[in-house]
Amino acid sequence: MNMDVIVSLCKRRGFIFQSSEIYGGTGSCWDYGPLGVELKNNIKRLWWRDNVQLRPDMVGLDASILMHPSVWKASGHVDHFTDPMVDCRECKRRFRADQVDEAPWLHFCPATKGNKFTIPAGEPCKHCGARRTLCPECGKGELTAPRHFNLMFKTFMGPVEEDAAMTYLRPETAQGIFVNFDNVLQSMRPKLPFGIAQIGKAFRNEITPGNFIFRSREFEQMEIEYFVNPHDRVEGRAADEYWHDRWIDACEVWFVRYGMSSENLKRHEHAADELAHYAKRTVDIMYRFPMGWSELMGIANRTDFDLKQHAKTSGKSLTYFDEERKEHIVPFVIEPSAGVDRALLAFLLDAYREEEVRGDKRVVLRLHRELAPLKIAVLPLLKKRPEIVATAGELRATLAREWTTVYDDTAGIGRLYRRQDEVGTPYCITVDVQTVGDPDKREAGDQRVTIRERDSMEQIRVPIPELPALFRELLGEGTWAAATARYPRANA
Ligand code: GAP
Repeated sequence: MNMDVIVSLCKRRGFIFQSSEIYGGTGSCWDYGPLGVELKNNIKRLWWRDNVQLRPDMVGLDASILMHPSVWKASGHVDHFTDPMVDCRECKRRFRADQVDEAPWLHFCPATKGNKFTIPAGEPCKHCGARRTLCPECGKGELTAPRHFNLMFKTFMGPVEEDAAMTYLRPETAQGIFVNFDNVLQSMRPKLPFGIAQIGKAFRNEITPGNFIFRSREFEQMEIEYFVNPHDRVEGRAADEYWHDRWIDACEVWFVRYGMSSENLKRHEHAADELAHYAKRTVDIMYRFPMGWSELMGIANRTDFDLKQHAKTSGKSLTYFDEERKEHIVPFVIEPSAGVDRALLAFLLDAYREEEVRGDKRVVLRLHRELAPLKIAVLPLLKKRPEIVATAGELRATLAREWTTVYDDTAGIGRLYRRQDEVGTPYCITVDVQTVGDPDKREAGDQRVTIRERDSMEQIRVPIPELPALFRELLGEGTWAAATARYPRANA
């Protein structure tokens, strides 16, 4: 897969636009268009349903983005949430010191009278044997020594821009959960193990954002903090280690359940020198993105680090009373942390297919029906026939009460089908002359419409009154083959 193909589809079909495009764009911020917002909402809704509403051991939270600045001191973000960066003294571009050799570099080669070459990442010049020492972009400037750059965005609360009023846009949603640990404990009385989930925006002033929505400066996270008693044992293992593995499996299964190919997923176990300062163990779920295997989400065992830090900094006790052992303990926490935007990009890449149908190219997004931004498209075969248009309009209105349903009459039926395939709409309904009849010929309509399924392109004729029940099956747990066996096939 080529990322440019997806970027182009996203813009063309209203999934994702460059932020503030008419002003030349804002660096690495993206706007979700009419179809993108539906897809994104579907991802968040399914994640919330599966991880919060369907589980007896989970509750939700929606904390504010702006928090007390001490939160970020306690969490370690003020001191540790930094990347080493280097600047080019000539062109002033900025790079992450640890990534400067990961991209091709520009070289003016002395062995060829200063000819300019672009040399693959990490390789020496074929002509003079030199390795990169200067700026990889302009090929001329010296790079400064690495300096630490904090990734948090600063802002001011209230009318005065002074240091005392300074705070940060949150760089992760997790801390909003830790600081509310005692509120949830007192109000909901959960028993360990239990988790608190949150979905929301996070902001990071990334030095090298890129790869479309993979790494941006404003993004959304879906995070769980799952608290366990470290003194408990489950199936002969320490509870934190047991639950860590359970969550790693559950997260991977979740992506596969909604259509991601397991061949495009793998796990990465963090080595000791890679682990964050708070983590006992971290496993990333990686996706085979066009730029190579990259992190889709991480699942960390953060131990009791965060609760202890906030207790120490705030002076408030953040413990749990273990009734059995009659002691106050600080729970350990397992943190599955996923990016909404990264998940959306991976779902799109995984669903994209170019197929040949009767000598023509068909682009189709084979999105899981629960993810598809539009579920049903109602298409009139002839837009000049008022009865056809009226019936199609009524159908759209009825079905839109339960599913995202659109009406489209802006092209011939073949083109309309292709457009819906390209955005992943699982079902199209066609209203034709047979449906409404022909008054000139004194022919009555059969009040049946054609339903076309996206992946197989099979078509069936169904009586209009049966549509809501049929779509409840098709867009619920039913399969196309089983749900439609009782209807006659229509010619494609
Ligand atoms: N609370 C833990 C935490 O925030 P992280 O690995 O920094 O851990 C978790 O972020 C997830 O958030 C990542 O796996 C990724 O999916 C998403 N994410 C992080 N930075 C991102 C960025 N700049 N743009 C888009 N998604 C990002």
